[in-house]
Amino acid sequence: MASNKLNSAVISGTGLFTPENVVTNEELVAAYNAWANKYNDVHAEKIKQGELDAKPLSSAEFIAKASGIKQRFAYIKDGILDIDRMRPRIPERSEAELSNQAEIAIHAAREALKAAGKTAADIDAVVVSCAYTQRSYPAIAIEVQNALEINGFAFDMLVACSAATFALHRAYEMVAAGTAGCVLLINPELTSPQVNYQDRDSHFIFGDVATAAIVEKRDTCTASQSYEILSTRAETKFSSNVRSNMGYLSRVNDVDPFGADKLFHQNGRRVFKEVCPMADRHIRGHLESLGIAIEDIARWWLHQANINMNNMIIHRLLGREATLEEAPIILDRYANTASAGSIIAFHLHQDNLAVGDLGVISSFGAGYSIGSLIVKKIT
Ligand SMILES: CC(C)(COP(=O)(O)OP(=O)(O)OC[C@H]1O[C@@H](n2cnc3c(N)ncnc32)[C@H](O)[C@@H]1OP(=O)(O)O)[C@@H](O)C(=O)NCCC(=O)NCCS
Repeated sequence: MASNKLNSAVISGTGLFTPENVVTNEELVAAYNAWANKYNDVHAEKIKQGELDAKPLSSAEFIAKASGIKQRFAYIKDGILDIDRMRPRIPERSEAELSNQAEIAIHAAREALKAAGKTAADIDAVVVSCAYTQRSYPAIAIEVQNALEINGFAFDMLVACSAATFALHRAYEMVAAGTAGCVLLINPELTSPQVNYQDRDSHFIFGDVATAAIVEKRDTCTASQSYEILSTRAETKFSSNVRSNMGYLSRVNDVDPFGADKLFHQNGRRVFKEVCPMADRHIRGHLESLGIAIEDIARWWLHQANINMNNMIIHRLLGREATLEEAPIILDRYANTASAGSIIAFHLHQDNLAVGDLGVISSFGAGYSIGSLIVKKIT
């Protein structure tokens, strides 16, 4: 019988799969502008009559300044820059083949297992958590579990931008309660199929990536780099300001299943204005509940949607700007990778931390959803 005593849980390893294909702002803007010019030429008469709006042009300088994004990775680049297509060409796979998301999930998972010094036999549960899964069932997590020959159980969960932190919360709870000793979490963020590359306001935002993490009992941890999870906190507040309407009902409600409102769209300004104060309050409240001062945090691994959001949230928290070492930014290389951003930052930026140092991993975005973990470096 499980005792009432909670186990101490640690993050003992992380993994990152970065696709080979880079799409720069310049390439993306050249393709979008060529598409927009063609659209405007083809519809010149209707635009002149006021029946259609002309498509505005995009700019690589605007994108870098407004978002901090300079490039993004694409799982498949083919098709994205083709002005007669404007979406990646991802061939359908047979049911006998590994699915695309399972494939990228497995790359990240293997790296996390290696970093934690674990094998498939050590894992009790697999959670795949991300903004979209390519099918409803069987769960991608069960496919990954099968491919890696892991026992126990597996499930998928979707929480948009906070999928990774919320999954870490669930893993923490399983390990703390003793329902699993070691959990593999994976965030295969295949975002490019949901990007509207014909929308000037959002065509630049997302990139593809997969991240993974191992959460296990402190007692079993042998990793050279590990972090005790001191506390988790989650918060949600409904908003349609960041929204996708693609789903299984698209088949039956006789609308255009590929319409612009079915893809990612947002009211970016509203998101910015509403989410920044929420994230500041959330993180501040979480730290206060533990009696930890803001100044005691050595590293801020924050969500990566937009550099100006990160700068504003950090400024509200610290009362000053943070250095890139204190609050790493990976947006310039990776763009917004939905829930994976804070995990990429965590994975890549652990240098110069000492045992005992405290850090915050936090996500904020669609839902709205905000998730945070306060962690302490233990090895
Ligand atoms: C998305 C975001 C970067 C856009 O930045 P912004 O400064 O708010 O930009 P706006 O959409 O208000 O547009 C500012 C101007 O630039 C123009 N613009 C927008 N996109 C452009 C582009 N790709 N190229 C050139 N100009 C562009 C707009 O038309 C607008 O022009 P106007 O002032 O003449 O009306 C910003 O709203 C943001 O950071 N939002 C946070 C939410 C977020 O990033 N969410 C991601 C998913 S969770």
